[in-house]
Amino acid sequence: MTRNARVVKNVPSLIKWTGSKRSQAYAISQLAPNFNRYIEPFLGSGAILHTAAHPGALGNDIYKPLIDLWCLVRDNPEELVNDYSVKWQHLNEELLTIDHTKLNSTRTIPEYYYSIRKKFNESPNALDLNFLMRTCVNGIVRFNDKGEFNNSFHLSRKGMQPERFSSIVHAWNPLLNGVSFTNTDYKECLAQATKGDFVYLDPPYAATKSRYASLLEPEELFSELEQLSIRGVNWALSYDGKRGDTDLTQDLPKELYTKHLYLNSGNSAVKKVLSGPIENVQEALYINY
Ligand SMILES: C[S@@+](CC[C@H](N)C(=O)[O-])C[C@H]1O[C@@H](n2cnc3c(N)ncnc32)[C@H](O)[C@@H]1O
Repeated sequence: MTRNARVVKNVPSLIKWTGSKRSQAYAISQLAPNFNRYIEPFLGSGAILHTAAHPGALGNDIYKPLIDLWCLVRDNPEELVNDYSVKWQHLNEELLTIDHTKLNSTRTIPEYYYSIRKKFNESPNALDLNFLMRTCVNGIVRFNDKGEFNNSFHLSRKGMQPERFSSIVHAWNPLLNGVSFTNTDYKECLAQATKGDFVYLDPPYAATKSRYASLLEPEELFSELEQLSIRGVNWALSYDGKRGDTDLTQDLPKELYTKHLYLNSGNSAVKKVLSGPIENVQEALYINY
């Protein structure tokens, strides 16, 4: 049976993830061809998944706590919502006892938040990651060079209300019915793609150093794209782009794709958070069909 990407209105964002393509989801889904199966090997927050997640779809990411979180939303939404509610309650009980003039830059208060962050860094897991994402500064997942979650508590907020979180999880749960999630390297995931499948790839920025950049050799990625085309798999690839006056476009060998487009993704969230100059970001999209 062939399927297509559909416009799903009012699906709230589940995760704020670095490099999220949420702002381009509509444009990318409009460009998607009909397909047998949808595959997203660099899932992150799954910005395109909600438009193309038919039963049989496959989402993959190398970051295990993230994939475990996706599995919880699909299989065990109540466990996820309850865990968050209990943690939020603990946090807010402590917040009531805090003299707010003592909240300072030493970043040890609220103790509950920092104890969960420490626990998570010692033993990364989906439930603690979820709590940190709902309560940290601007909800942005950020890691230091050692791979530790290092974002602070959002002092002026009390964390997302459990009722709001529950409604987000329950909006996503039915969309994930029949969707498989795997936690492997993208090459292993792509090996499963066969003729008629559609793959959307959003690897980490090649032009910026990230903790995973070393795992992504451009030549290997190019070879994978070539193999997909040979097998009759349609693919779309987000690959760097333009930020303000800086052109981060990486050269993709011309024989690999048929179209090269730029999609506007608005202003850079990271720059906004850092109060730097507002820059317009345009993401390059390459497609082979
Ligand atoms: C730019 S983000 C994807 C963002 C996603 N499109 C979204 O809208 O949120 C890249 C993702 O690729 C994952 N990743 C990095 N290296 C990988 C690899 N070798 N195999 C699979 N996933 C990888 C990262 O964990 C990250 O979630």
